[in-house]
Amino acid sequence: MERKSKRMMLVLLLLLFMFATTFQECFSDSSQPPIKRRSTQSTAARRFGSTAVFPLTGNVYPLGYYSVSLKIGNPPKIYELDIDTGSDLTWVQCDAPCKGCTKPRASLYNPSNNVILCKDPLCSAVHLPANVQCETPNDQCDYEVEYADHGSSLGVLVTDHFPLRLTNGSLLGPRLAFGCGYDQSNPGPNPPPPTAGVLGLGNGKASIMSQLNGLGLTRNVLGHCLSGRGGGFLFLGDDLVPSSGMVWTPMSHNSLEKHYSSGPAELLHGGKATGVKGLQVIFDSGSSYTYFNFQAYKTTLDMLKKDLKGEPLKDTRDDRTLPICWKGPKPVKTISDVKDYFKPLQLSFSKAKNVQLELSPEAYLIVTKQGNVCLGILNGTEVGLGDYNIIGDISLQDKMVIYNNEKQQIGWVSTNCNRLPNVDRDYNDGIWQPYKADFGILEEHYSTASKINKPTGRRSEL
Ligand SMILES: *[C@@H]1O[C@H](CO)[C@@H](O)[C@H](O)[C@H]1NC(C)=O
Ligand SMILES: *[C@@H]1O[C@H](CO)[C@@H](O)[C@H](O)[C@H]1NC(C)=O
Repeated sequence: MERKSKRMMLVLLLLLFMFATTFQECFSDSSQPPIKRRSTQSTAARRFGSTAVFPLTGNVYPLGYYSVSLKIGNPPKIYELDIDTGSDLTWVQCDAPCKGCTKPRASLYNPSNNVILCKDPLCSAVHLPANVQCETPNDQCDYEVEYADHGSSLGVLVTDHFPLRLTNGSLLGPRLAFGCGYDQSNPGPNPPPPTAGVLGLGNGKASIMSQLNGLGLTRNVLGHCLSGRGGGFLFLGDDLVPSSGMVWTPMSHNSLEKHYSSGPAELLHGGKATGVKGLQVIFDSGSSYTYFNFQAYKTTLDMLKKDLKGEPLKDTRDDRTLPICWKGPKPVKTISDVKDYFKPLQLSFSKAKNVQLELSPEAYLIVTKQGNVCLGILNGTEVGLGDYNIIGDISLQDKMVIYNNEKQQIGWVSTNCNRLPNVDRDYNDGIWQPYKADFGILEEHYSTASKINKPTGRRSEL
């Protein structure tokens, strides 16, 4: 059967439950020394200019997600994680034991005396904007995260090694905090995702990006390049930021939000004003499709319908892949077959002069297995997004999209995402190479005795 997946991983709620008692014997020893995260960064030479690059797998349709294979632990296991710029917390399915895990027990994460305590600042960071109430400071740090598609994960924060290869050639195994998810639920109409968890790339303190930056390992910059043919790459650090061709727009400031948003933006159709303005736009790699607010959605539908008047594409209700689909006189094979009937849309960001996010027909249409064309822009009001507009994977494809948390700006440039840029320039004379499958993920053994991430003993104060 065809898989129909439609993920929307923007984080809606992050709830806190502080259990006075630990929930299973495997967590009963929470007295191990916590890791002091920031204190050693001044001793480690803060040498930036290093980036971790990861190949991606996945596609918008039929899979509905892009994922990265990350190794965690020592000895490491591989976990396939959804990449999600719409949330902060990274979590993996965890044998504690687990409710709602979809992976076989052998591939679940096994916690071993590595829980983060409630008094740890990272615990507070995960629970922002709410306040953490520690019943006793040595409680474990529990979390519950709920996404916009109502999927959720409940678990406890732990730390473990993440073997990483950086572009400067170093192999590192920094200890990073993430969620050990022992109770997942996925009440929506779609089957649970086949991934083992989520790589949270939002801009809060708990995200892997912020942690790597806090350890002095990478700049607080990340980017992704999602290929329309499937796959692509993700990078943490600023080595791959192109020196030219990018357009940038400032991030909106809302300290309570951990996702990346910008605006106001104006919606254009074929380069012409539509009257829809003032859109706040969230860039969310965890969402398969794009969602528009009431007005933008209605206007888009009206314009597309008008453009299709008298053309051979007709509405069809036979294809339930997405709410709005069109059928041609013969089955559609690729978007190129129907491209002439659709104009590009643009989002024009007024804070930065002349900055547009161009949405070509490929960035808002899919061709289904039944040979129809469906609209990949969905009604945000229907799923409770209110006034938010979400730019999902479909509209992020074939662009390098960069989130610069240091300069507080989001940028993009159209590019070929099937090839990794010349991070290997030292070895390959700057020629673009197809990326190696193991890039950023180690086969080799790495050293856990790195000065940067060595545990520094029991924390004496909060
Ligand atoms: C590569 O960068 C990391 C993080 O900045 C640093 O710890 C490491 O020493 C660097 N390696 C080399 C070979 O420069
Ligand atoms: C979008 O969804 C809302 C809520 O269900 C509905 O009222 C509205 O008519 C929908 N918009 C369009 C253009 O279908």
